[in-house]
Amino acid sequence: MKSNSYTIKKAIYSIGILLQILSINQQAQAQHKTIDQKVNAVLKQMTLVEKIGQLNQYNDDWQATGPVTLDSTKAEQVRNGMIGSLLNCVGTKRTRKWQEIAMQSRLKIPLLFGQDVVHGYKTTFPIPLAEACSWDLPAMESAARVAAVEASASGIHWTFAPMVDIARDPRWGRVMEGAGEDPYLGSKIAYARVKGFQGKNLGDTNAVMACAKHFAAYGAAIGGRDYNSVDMSDRLLWEVYLPPFKAALDAGAATFMNSFNDLNGIPATGNRYLQREILKGKWGFKGFVVSDWGSIGEMINHGNVKNEYEAALSAITAGSDMDMESRCYKNNLTQLLADNKINISLIDDAVKRILKKKFEMGLFEDPFKFCNAQREEAALNNTTHTANARAMAAKSIVLLKNENQLLPLSKNLKKIAFIGPLAKAVKQNKGFWDVEVPGVDSTFIVSQWQGLQNKVGINTQLLYAKGCDIEGDDKSGFDEAIAMANQAEVVILSIGERRDMSGEAKSRSNIGIPGVQEELLEALLATGKPVVVLINAGRPLVFNYTADHAPAILYTWWLGSEAGNAIADVLFGDYNPAAKLAMSFPRTVGQIPIYYSHFNTGRPATNDNDRFYNSSYNDLSIYPKYAFGYGLSYTSFEYSGLTLNKKKMKATETIQVSLTVSNTGQYDGEEIIQLYLHDKVGSLARPVKELKDFAKVFLKAGEKKTIQFFINQDKLSFYNQLLQRVAEPGEFELMIGASAEDIKLKDSFELIK
Ligand code: BGC
Repeated sequence: MKSNSYTIKKAIYSIGILLQILSINQQAQAQHKTIDQKVNAVLKQMTLVEKIGQLNQYNDDWQATGPVTLDSTKAEQVRNGMIGSLLNCVGTKRTRKWQEIAMQSRLKIPLLFGQDVVHGYKTTFPIPLAEACSWDLPAMESAARVAAVEASASGIHWTFAPMVDIARDPRWGRVMEGAGEDPYLGSKIAYARVKGFQGKNLGDTNAVMACAKHFAAYGAAIGGRDYNSVDMSDRLLWEVYLPPFKAALDAGAATFMNSFNDLNGIPATGNRYLQREILKGKWGFKGFVVSDWGSIGEMINHGNVKNEYEAALSAITAGSDMDMESRCYKNNLTQLLADNKINISLIDDAVKRILKKKFEMGLFEDPFKFCNAQREEAALNNTTHTANARAMAAKSIVLLKNENQLLPLSKNLKKIAFIGPLAKAVKQNKGFWDVEVPGVDSTFIVSQWQGLQNKVGINTQLLYAKGCDIEGDDKSGFDEAIAMANQAEVVILSIGERRDMSGEAKSRSNIGIPGVQEELLEALLATGKPVVVLINAGRPLVFNYTADHAPAILYTWWLGSEAGNAIADVLFGDYNPAAKLAMSFPRTVGQIPIYYSHFNTGRPATNDNDRFYNSSYNDLSIYPKYAFGYGLSYTSFEYSGLTLNKKKMKATETIQVSLTVSNTGQYDGEEIIQLYLHDKVGSLARPVKELKDFAKVFLKAGEKKTIQFFINQDKLSFYNQLLQRVAEPGEFELMIGASAEDIKLKDSFELIK
């Protein structure tokens, strides 16, 4: 009896749960429907001018990131419902002003405020490429979250980030903005960043819409020249350049931005294949696509359209929903419609996509939701954000060299000479793509000098000399620098690029350390003092002299507002560096493009003397200066005991891989363990290795841990000649490495039918 009543109770309970689930689903559906219905209701009331207005995005009056069209009638246009979105308009005061004007329009459709919040808002985080070297997905997600919390409190609804372009050419200045060369790592990071920006729910007050950009293949510009053409096989596109976009979509990215480049002759902005077939077709993207700055009009320069009329036709047909700054839609869509070149359904679809996001953001309910000055004040002065930025910065620093364990430095040193043009620099630390927040000056940025001062005690004296400028050939400061070095026990030298040498339109054919900075290093090394070099840059630089002669090198990139504190944390061992390069570092510019996942070719070079072999220059090593995945720690790790729970798997099965990693050194630390696969025989040639998993593990000194990975069909799949994603039966080599070159353990397994 007892058990019967128990069964009945259980059944009632289960039905209850089921009903609850059903009702949650129904509610969700109802809500979904409601938004669609609301969108349709608004659409029905809209005139053609108002519809086209929603597809228009203008720059506000300052902070331009492209050629500006002066337009004194902007306010009038907003009032007439002729503008759907503004960019480069930040702060609660300014966004409120514009939103108030939008509320005077007939239908009161709120404006969207978009901004390049790329690596932080007021609190600047490391440039994205630096963060990528942390391989720390939760940390990157949380960095994006902080950026969203600050930006949303300051009136911004939408960030033009993350940039998820794979980049294999460090001459291209925008490598600083992405996650490096690898599609697997790039996809994981894209996912984490979108989640971070958008938070739990797009409707939350502190969520900003993400924008996966630049769709697509922008990072493969020929010769690394920004905005240049891209010529690429479909296989490469699908295998390397598209996966991070797909990951961003899977994470729920609300918007995509297309790109300036042409892809195999068709500008991305007017590319149907990319936008209609892949993004909105095959992938089912429900958000909207914004053009890049003026890129609709720029199709005339590309030469595949004659005038703005044709440019607008090409872009709207291809699936570009919002026109950033070119005015081609505003000036031509009405005529295109009148000429029967397009159907109103094309415009309606674009408008609906945009309105839907405005509804999802809750802007129709409260257009001033993001314009609360008190909230802004609190969010922009939140000390947890600073702590977060400091931790992220420390995680992004790559230890490239540490001869005789020069680092970490002792806190008991009596005199340290801190030398170099970047030692006392303040704003430089922010890197490219920082945001000028109204009313905020640079005083909150911790310079490297300040960071060091904060760290050392009263018994340590810090000496300073600039030594030289970043650029130019003036060596008149060398003597002072040498004199300081001679007095000190240790020299720290901070050199590198200027922050605006990497970034948009910052391609360089010479990526060496500019000016006489390496000569300054030479002069300092001649004093016989140990020199620790900090290299500040937005891209992999070529610095063979430094690499070969300096005893210790930290690649610090641009680390943001907490740069100084984070660098000091690493220099003195309060944080043990763990970052690993997300891009291969070339030996010379002539070695570019260089990436680890190349093909074997018919004549694979295995060493620098293989002269009749591919991949080998007669005057250069076949290896990069520093490999993808490379980075040192103050401690050492040993890898052992690789086991696979089976050596043959069917496509439906999984192989469990285990190994042990031991911290064999003196310091606690983290290691990034990398799993690479090589498909030995495929219907197409396959890369010599491809990253397919990784784990970042913390180990106390002397501690060891068992690490597990799982190999499934997905990790074995690639795009075959017909662009079908397949896992082909055969043998796979499995490599566990501390970098793409430093393979510690190997085994193999077979995929069977
Ligand atoms: C860049 C985009 C950026 C846009 C708006 C363009 O020049 O390519 O990445 O989002 O400007 O600032």
